[in-house]
Amino acid sequence: MIATTHPLSGSQTSIAFSVNGKSVNAAVSPVERLSKVLRDRLGLTGTKVGCDAGDCGACTVLLDGEPICSCLVAAGQIEGHEITTVEGLATRAPIYDQLQKSFLRHGAAQCGACTPGMLVSATALLERCVAPTEDAVMDAIGGVLCRCTGYRKIITGIQDACSGKIAEPSPLAGNAVGSRLVRLDGQSKVDGAEIFGADEIPAGALVVRAIRSPYQHARFRFGDLDAFVAAHPGIRRVLTAKDIPGENRYGVIPRFADQPVFAEVEARFRGEAVAAVVGEAEAIDALDYASFPVAWQDLPALTTIAAALAPDAERIHPSRENNVLVRGRVVHGDVEKSLADADVVVEDEYESGFIEHAYIEPEAGFARRVNDRIEIQACTQAPYMDRADIAQILGIPPEAVRIIPTAVGGGFGSKLDLSVQPFVALAAWLLRQPVRMVYSRSESIVSTTKRHPSHIRVRVGATRDGKLTAMDFTADFNTGAYSSWGPTVAARVPVHASGPYYVPHYRALTRAVHTHLVPAGAFRGFGVPQTAIAQEQIYDDLADRLGIDRLEFRIMNALDDQTPTVTGQVLGEGVGIRACFEALRAKWSAARAEAATFNAKASGPVRHGVGIAGMWYGCGNTSLPNPSTIRVGLKANGRIALHQGAVDIGQGSNTIVTQICADALGAPIDRFDLISGDTSITPDCGKTSASRQTFVTGKAAYMAGIELRRAILRLADACKCAVIGFADGTVTVRKDGKQRTFSLRDLPLDKNGYVLTGEATFDPPTSPLDENGQGTPYAVFGFGAHLAEVAVDTELGTVRVLKITAAHDVGRAINPTLIEGQIEGGAAQGLGMALMEEFFPGKGENLHDYLIPSAGDMPPVESILIEVPSSIGPFGAKGIGEQAVIPTAPAILNAIHDAIGVRIRRVPATPDRIRAALVAPASRRPDGRAGCPPDSRPDADATIRPEEKHA
Ligand code: FES
Ligand code: FES
Repeated sequence: MIATTHPLSGSQTSIAFSVNGKSVNAAVSPVERLSKVLRDRLGLTGTKVGCDAGDCGACTVLLDGEPICSCLVAAGQIEGHEITTVEGLATRAPIYDQLQKSFLRHGAAQCGACTPGMLVSATALLERCVAPTEDAVMDAIGGVLCRCTGYRKIITGIQDACSGKIAEPSPLAGNAVGSRLVRLDGQSKVDGAEIFGADEIPAGALVVRAIRSPYQHARFRFGDLDAFVAAHPGIRRVLTAKDIPGENRYGVIPRFADQPVFAEVEARFRGEAVAAVVGEAEAIDALDYASFPVAWQDLPALTTIAAALAPDAERIHPSRENNVLVRGRVVHGDVEKSLADADVVVEDEYESGFIEHAYIEPEAGFARRVNDRIEIQACTQAPYMDRADIAQILGIPPEAVRIIPTAVGGGFGSKLDLSVQPFVALAAWLLRQPVRMVYSRSESIVSTTKRHPSHIRVRVGATRDGKLTAMDFTADFNTGAYSSWGPTVAARVPVHASGPYYVPHYRALTRAVHTHLVPAGAFRGFGVPQTAIAQEQIYDDLADRLGIDRLEFRIMNALDDQTPTVTGQVLGEGVGIRACFEALRAKWSAARAEAATFNAKASGPVRHGVGIAGMWYGCGNTSLPNPSTIRVGLKANGRIALHQGAVDIGQGSNTIVTQICADALGAPIDRFDLISGDTSITPDCGKTSASRQTFVTGKAAYMAGIELRRAILRLADACKCAVIGFADGTVTVRKDGKQRTFSLRDLPLDKNGYVLTGEATFDPPTSPLDENGQGTPYAVFGFGAHLAEVAVDTELGTVRVLKITAAHDVGRAINPTLIEGQIEGGAAQGLGMALMEEFFPGKGENLHDYLIPSAGDMPPVESILIEVPSSIGPFGAKGIGEQAVIPTAPAILNAIHDAIGVRIRRVPATPDRIRAALVAPASRRPDGRAGCPPDSRPDADATIRPEEKHA
């Protein structure tokens, strides 16, 4: 089985050292990790653990003033030394207060999981140098990974710490929307006080550890489990499928739910749980997992889409013919005729592999049984979905399950699926004792969902003057062993594969195909980023074949308010893609001229290139209901309680939803008390995914704010244009020079415990798609375009991204700082997808081998916010979370092609792939110099593979 911990051994001894200025004598094993000593023994949980291997830097502390990874230092090494953690920076360094404020002002902390490590590293730098250069800052934080921000706001936050600048004051009533309001939940992130899934340990908690399959496909048989428990003092129980009181099955889409908590006879992927051991923490740490009584029979595994689709392939799920989980389809017009009639047709194929979410916080949480209820406190993006699944697993009503989301140290889609929840819930339920679980990094990587690998084939046709006429698109997605979000990917991709362009004749067919690999699920974009890599590269090739500027080609074909989408939907308003492209026009021309000048003068191996790509993305579920409900209550003390159940995974929903509600109500932000996600006290705001929280929950907050405002005005019998003033214990309603003041403490409380309550539900207006995928899948789309400038070393095959300029139509920028944070973070993930990220199941299950962009990889990102409002969104707003990642990778790939004339069809564009493409005969210049940019695209015939019908 897969070992999920590496317990250290050694007898305890007393070690004296100082922590945050205080002397400590700790009785610990000398080989215990310092990070564990700080967190588990001293309660200093501001120090985070993301890998336990020196790869992520989340555990950074100061050892005698120098930053070190505390997971790599043994307790025995700190005898007599001074340790400073994030909790002690304020007393150590006067600059720390300014650094914290600068982080908040710049939005440098999103989820906050990397923030303590960043702050510790930055403080060490600022103690030496009050005005560090950008390079010095990048050096200082180079060992600390951040998956959310794209680093630029962190770098600026550190450089700006000594500037003395202060944040904008909290906006006046009615002015919250559009302000750069500092994140409302930010202070705890920069104090190191944020509670993530692993940060709280209930008294007397046991620990549960899963036993997982080491094989992609295996049959297994347990030995004597009772004897195993009896032989290990401190081990309390082994859990298997037989112990599940309800159904041994869960899944994010109930109709497709197929994943067992514990495999019953056969494991369908490496990392699948077959059993779990529950016991006291020391006993679990000391366990030799090789002694667990299970015998494995390794079976042949289907690991590729092609193998799984083969006619004689074994069915991974007996009811799913040909291992196809689900198909997606959008068809419009006569594709074959239109392609036959087109002046130019280009076709190509593209591939991508698994991509790991690599959030800095591995999954963690605990459960406790309270009589006949179970309470689960864990990191999650979807508390109400978790509640439904846990109820089904335990065989109890949903109301008997309480989900309390902790802070989420990055999710990006993977924490929509269950991870630790069923294990801790089952163990706590059966043992009637609190039980906790913290995934190791390798356990997180092997067992949780990934971005779907894709194999995409596209044909596109256009007229001689550059009008798109038809697209024929087919895509297979490797959805792994269980369904997870495979149906959503298969359904969303055909709607989006055209890109934000008018394509009159269109056929997009998709399949989600099961294999014996880790389940693929939701990852920022639900398959659309993979699709954009194909669509935006082939549009470049088509433009080149037509001899039309690549940006002009896109503008020429861009959707507008009145052109139908590929599902026949006429949006009628809010189509901002043309505005995004127009915003990049001058920069495109300038960047291309600059690159051409550089290349003309270049004598070495480096060539510059510029690429562009567009995107669109429907906000919310595809043709399915996805309501959010918000409750806002006026308290007797004059404060306002906002029940905001949308889990803030770092994107900023706690702040943005409050901004929207505040302006709808007409109250100042600082009147609000935020009550965040908890299924017992906040209504269902749905899952945090699909760029839906600003749009859907934001609209519910807008409506709830309006409801409460109406209730207050009714109290005063005033018309809707009256002004409401909020004060401690009173509200005052003013109109035409008259005013009435109400003492709130004199008014009765309603069933919610408030003087007055506004509650509203919003469900975006969509319609089911017909058998050809025609209809209204989304009420609102977000649009965007990225411009990437790159330098490619033709000898080494390396790519350096010099700059990304990102124009996004967000409808209305509710909080520009937070939106820029999403764009920059999305661009970083897109850069990783383009250049370095690919997960191979069974290999590199750590953050050492699985590379994500570090600070030094990220170029400046210029965000251009376009506001083409939607009348449906709150104050016109649309989503941005998923949108931000989609155009980056194709823009970079197009820039690589622009620089060196080779097309990389299999991402990531690693140096070996670039070199292989360069040395292929088709990639040589006419003068035979391999690796240099062709002047006349000599690769076109061989690598673009066009079918010119009438050129
Ligand atoms: S936890 Fe120490 S470097 Fe990741
Ligand atoms: S803010 Fe850096 S990992 Fe989330």
